[in-house]
Amino acid sequence: MAGLLAYCRAGFESDLANELQEKAAQRQIFGFPRLKPNSGFVLFECYQAEDARPLAEALPLSEVIFSRQQFACLASLTSLDPADRISPILTACADFPLCGDLRVEYPDTTEGRELSKFCRKFAVPLRQALRKAGKLTHKENASKPVLFAFFTDGQHLHLGVAEPDAISPHPLGIMRLKTPADAPSRSSLKLDEAIQTFLSEAEQQSRLQSGMQGVDLGACPGGWTYQLVRRGLFVQAVDNGAMAPSLMESGQVRHYAEDGFKFRPKKKNVHWLVCDMVEQPVRVARLMADWVRDGWCKEAIFNLKLPMKRRFETVQQAQNCIEEAMAGQAYRLVAKHLYHDREEITLHLFKK
Ligand SMILES: C[S@@+](CC[C@H](N)C(=O)[O-])C[C@H]1O[C@@H](n2cnc3c(N)ncnc32)[C@H](O)[C@@H]1O
Repeated sequence: MAGLLAYCRAGFESDLANELQEKAAQRQIFGFPRLKPNSGFVLFECYQAEDARPLAEALPLSEVIFSRQQFACLASLTSLDPADRISPILTACADFPLCGDLRVEYPDTTEGRELSKFCRKFAVPLRQALRKAGKLTHKENASKPVLFAFFTDGQHLHLGVAEPDAISPHPLGIMRLKTPADAPSRSSLKLDEAIQTFLSEAEQQSRLQSGMQGVDLGACPGGWTYQLVRRGLFVQAVDNGAMAPSLMESGQVRHYAEDGFKFRPKKKNVHWLVCDMVEQPVRVARLMADWVRDGWCKEAIFNLKLPMKRRFETVQQAQNCIEEAMAGQAYRLVAKHLYHDREEITLHLFKK
């Protein structure tokens, strides 16, 4: 079985499968998705086995909304003997390129997490064996491919490789963040993860500077505003609800009890627009595009709340709506289902 193996939040397998099917076909690579509901991953099997690595190259993680991590799956092993799992792995890896790092992982599901201790322990002898077999460099080498061993249980394993710059640096593709003790809500982490996902450290330094102006639509109680305030921004927080008093005491926040769809700042000096309003995705997408297109902000990070079904189609409708509104303008739009997102995705839109 060769193809692209992608991890997702449990329950989002069919959305990821639809996305992979469509995006692979756009790249003239054909196959079909293999998935099990709530398994936390999808294997998009290529009709031509030799298409697996080109597909992983043509469809990087940043371009797959519902994928947290992914690799070109080159071999799948079943009925592994617990007494010797290593020999069949070495045989299966015989044609793999020399890799610079090894990840031994499992699905982020209740059953999958039971494998975490096993995977951590198994990684030690496997790493040694792969080094001895000349499949892994003796020291970690960040310029070489990463070898993935993805266990779905103690006997079933998918093996493959990924280019180091095309994957998430985090184990299981999960950016673990701790809610700061003084943050007004846990959803604060969504914006923190979004900023760290969409902007490199250098971009954060130049584009999220102290003294900049931000607007937060649907701000209460203030988790997202908190992330801007802690980076030194001045924030116009728009919401009919109540803002956390600690944020108001910072002196960096002005609260407007207004409708986020009608609000516009007094001056066109806003760099960041963030929006977490619970509303129809198409309506929010249109609003964000209007702000960026008309110069009310330079960049926007926003959430789209998704329905229970046909989520990928809903995202496509919202993206089409932005495309239409931004016609004729050079812009960048990235969308991701982040770890801290639940029935929603986060997007970053800016004019180039
Ligand atoms: C998910 S909560 C926002 C949480 C916030 N991002 C945080 O981290 O604390 C959604 C908010 O959007 C607000 N909201 C929904 N529709 C709105 C509208 N049309 N105008 C302004 N705020 C709106 C709600 O009052 C609610 O406080």
